[in-house]
Amino acid sequence: MKQNNLFTPLCVGKFDLSHRIVLAPLTRIRADEDTLAPTKLNVEYYAQRATPGGLLISEAVYISPEGMPIWSIYKNIKENGGQAPGIWTSGQVQGWKMVTKAVHSKGGLISCQLLHAGRVAQPEIAQHPLVKGTDLPIPSVSSSAIPITPLDEKGNDYNWDQKSVTPRALETQEIARICSDYRLAAINALEAGFDLIELHAAHGYLIEQFLCDGVNTRDDKYGGSIKNRARILFEVIETLIDVVGEERLGIRLSPVDNDPITKQPNQIYFGVVHSKPELSYEYVISKLSDYNLAYLLLTEPRVGVLSNIPGKDNTFEVPSGNYKYREIYQGTLIGAGGFTPLTARKALSEGNYDLIAFGRWFLSNPDLPERIKNGYKLNVYDRDTFYGGNEIGYTDYPDYKSLSKMNKKRYKLISQSSIGRSLS
Ligand SMILES: Cc1cc2nc3c(=O)[nH]c(=O)nc-3n(C[C@H](O)[C@H](O)[C@H](O)COP(=O)(O)O)c2cc1C
Repeated sequence: MKQNNLFTPLCVGKFDLSHRIVLAPLTRIRADEDTLAPTKLNVEYYAQRATPGGLLISEAVYISPEGMPIWSIYKNIKENGGQAPGIWTSGQVQGWKMVTKAVHSKGGLISCQLLHAGRVAQPEIAQHPLVKGTDLPIPSVSSSAIPITPLDEKGNDYNWDQKSVTPRALETQEIARICSDYRLAAINALEAGFDLIELHAAHGYLIEQFLCDGVNTRDDKYGGSIKNRARILFEVIETLIDVVGEERLGIRLSPVDNDPITKQPNQIYFGVVHSKPELSYEYVISKLSDYNLAYLLLTEPRVGVLSNIPGKDNTFEVPSGNYKYREIYQGTLIGAGGFTPLTARKALSEGNYDLIAFGRWFLSNPDLPERIKNGYKLNVYDRDTFYGGNEIGYTDYPDYKSLSKMNKKRYKLISQSSIGRSLS
């Protein structure tokens, strides 16, 4: 086999990676519902995916209850419950310690993705025993008092069947408090043993609710020009750098682009719309280039269809749209969204990305690096168990070695070269 460039070592910040296959951040809604802390099941899931010198990015971890959705938009969660994890209590830190320890014992590295969901969070979290009766901040807040407006069925957004809450616009002086919530979360993440921190500034959550002029109608120093709309992002970045240093910080962004066929924006999350997305993202990404960050993770615009057309995964066939940012970003770039092992190699060989984060294929293949290395078939993922529930569709995807010992295979297999053609 020709040398596979996904296995060329790379230094990321202060860490030596032995390959370029990253676990993308994946919300799985299987934390303990009472403590909102990781459990032994979560430990097993991350440990299964750890490899020597391989980078895992955690699921979105909530910095405070104020930024925390209930996620009952998903049928499985409505029926079977489930919650996402936080990182503001000592119990949550202890839970994450078990995860990082297990990853480290296999020689892997793990980044903690920190999130505040802004107006996507719902006030119901205030009734949670961890929150009720405390003075912790509760949902929902945003850049402006504008609720999520769902787009139509053919449009570009989630099927938002939850009641939209009108958020409270954060006061100018409250942004400092948001920064200190991020600070505490970063301190806790370090205590929990994470190697890196990732700021989730993508996918229509709080930071993007400030970046985009479709939601941000403020007239203070956090609204108006793109410089003002990006102010909160850079204030949070400075706060996190103060805690972890530039070389241990990653940022996730999801630049919006137009679909080459429909000419419509193909990546809109939770109704967040920009009038001139390219200008905003060029500004932000070139300013990020001034830092010596561990990495910048960009979501490919094509993944918009991921959530729109559940039956058909045509994401894998839509061309990539973020390559233009390579010219303005000098540091390590991770690409995510609709990559196959083949297109990942191509993206690396053309110099467009340094690493590729796999979401759905890593979710269903705990030994994904090994399978890619050997060209083995992949387990096909089951969408119904993406969010909430138990070990089914979480830790029960077999690795390749155990497949031959199984009489009845729970998951279908697909050859790496057929992805994008025969998935339905
Ligand atoms: C089940 C699921 C959960 C996800 N959760 C997160 C998340 O917590 N944070 C995040 O930044 N992206 C999240 N994403 C997006 C992934 O990180 C990734 O960008 C997406 O799956 C596209 O990559 P893929 O084509 O390799 O699956 C999620 C995607 C899926 C399918």
